[in-house]
Amino acid sequence: MPDSAESPNLMEALVSLAKRRGFIYQSSEIYGGLNGFFDYGPLGVELKRNIRDCWWRDMVHRRDDIVGIETSIIMHPKVWEASGHVAGFSDPLVDCKVSKQRYRADQLFWSPVVVDGKVAGYVSALESERTGAELQEAAESFKRKKALQGALAPVVVKDFTEAAEAEIPLIPSPATGEPGSLTAPRAFNMMFQTNVGAMSDASSVAYLRPETAQGMFVDFKNVVDTTRVKLPFGIAQVGKSFRNEITPRNFIFRSREFEQMEMEYFIHEDADWAKAHEEWIVWCESWLKSIGLPDSHLSRYTHPKEKLAFYSRGTVDIMFKYPFGVQELWGIAARGNYDLTQHANASGKPQEIFDETTKKKFVPHVIEPAVGTDRIFLAVLTAAYAEEDVTDEKGNTEKRTVLRLSPRIAPVKVAVLPLLKNKEQLTNRAKALYAKLKRNYAVQYDDGGAIGKRYRRQDEAGTPWCVTIDFDTIEKPGDTFTLRERDSMKQTRITEAELFALLAEHVY
Ligand code: GAP
Repeated sequence: MPDSAESPNLMEALVSLAKRRGFIYQSSEIYGGLNGFFDYGPLGVELKRNIRDCWWRDMVHRRDDIVGIETSIIMHPKVWEASGHVAGFSDPLVDCKVSKQRYRADQLFWSPVVVDGKVAGYVSALESERTGAELQEAAESFKRKKALQGALAPVVVKDFTEAAEAEIPLIPSPATGEPGSLTAPRAFNMMFQTNVGAMSDASSVAYLRPETAQGMFVDFKNVVDTTRVKLPFGIAQVGKSFRNEITPRNFIFRSREFEQMEMEYFIHEDADWAKAHEEWIVWCESWLKSIGLPDSHLSRYTHPKEKLAFYSRGTVDIMFKYPFGVQELWGIAARGNYDLTQHANASGKPQEIFDETTKKKFVPHVIEPAVGTDRIFLAVLTAAYAEEDVTDEKGNTEKRTVLRLSPRIAPVKVAVLPLLKNKEQLTNRAKALYAKLKRNYAVQYDDGGAIGKRYRRQDEAGTPWCVTIDFDTIEKPGDTFTLRERDSMKQTRITEAELFALLAEHVY
């Protein structure tokens, strides 16, 4: 459950900015939208692409031990049988027979109402930042309504998977407030099904992949046989994944179609997996900081041993302080040799590597850092968003909204602004600079409105620098421009060569 200083107003502000400035739209909005699906607008697609490109450059291009692949979204259905997804990739689903609402059992909370040591009834609430407090309020209200006398015990928060069979009919539905309509939890498989080919029968059933990871395992031998990789090495992939989430929510945090950036790092069966695991956790933390996420918003959650999946030796999540609470951003799992072994057994094709030293074949083990691009997107918006009061040269105070995005991922790196749009000398110089910059960088040319207004527009889009071509540019020697820095709003003069050097240093 979320456990930190939540700020619902920040979430509202982010959703509104995302829509207003063309970062994120609801999918199929003119038809009322489709729950759990989103579109990225012109600024959003740039930001998302930059996050993905930075990850790819740092994870693949800038390392000697990792190669990239891109596998198909629909794979042989046997892949998902071998991986365990057909049998086990499910969430516990609860139906309310009266309201027809569906809930994830582990996100539906309840408590007995205990008065003078006796259970007088039950209350329920959906997962939120205030679940415990809401249950307590509901228990107090229950006691008042039933005019019960005696001491009310503090509520004991349990989720619906912890309800005994006899308790289920007594727990009220969050939709109706009345008991008796909730079903026992049943496993709901989250894979989207489709049919391949013209026939729509059991033999044509296929799945949209729920993770990109299986592509790396299934192509493991192909990569080993066609490249010169040597252990330890990694295979990375970025691509769409699909999960029929029961309760998609918190904007793009949990959606039904999302993008994953995953890497499978194969190590020797005798290697120190705990050391490799820790190294990858540190790598992921420092990468997140390199794209501008502050230390103050990051933390770690180590999955307790007894709650680990049976094949996992250890999983650590890097958590982020979202406006709705501290939640998982990036999972780093030590998966042993579970996946390769499963595929070897199911396909009959050994998934081994030959050890030159011991002259023995073995199945490598794997460390897997798996993250969602959309979750990083929401994290960078959360950390970057600020509203502040600023005073202009005339002493007037106004509000500005600013996205303090790292130049590495900002959708627009520089905005080129001619001071006046009807002065040819200014616009010619501005257009020449703009043409030169846009060969290498995402830049914008903006000559509409007062200069202060144009700065504000760029602040909201997260553009780190504006350059203004003014009268000093054309009248004074040196061909310098005004460089206006987004965060400090400081203005200095800069030459074209210095501007390119500044960009080369910060946009990498
Ligand atoms: N291959 C392992 C795997 O997929 P996971 O924890 O289920 O592990 C990895 O997913 C990451 O993918 C998560 O940490 C999260 O960043 C992202 N993710 C998972 N489900 C998501 C969803 N419904 N919407 C957005 N991102 C999601």
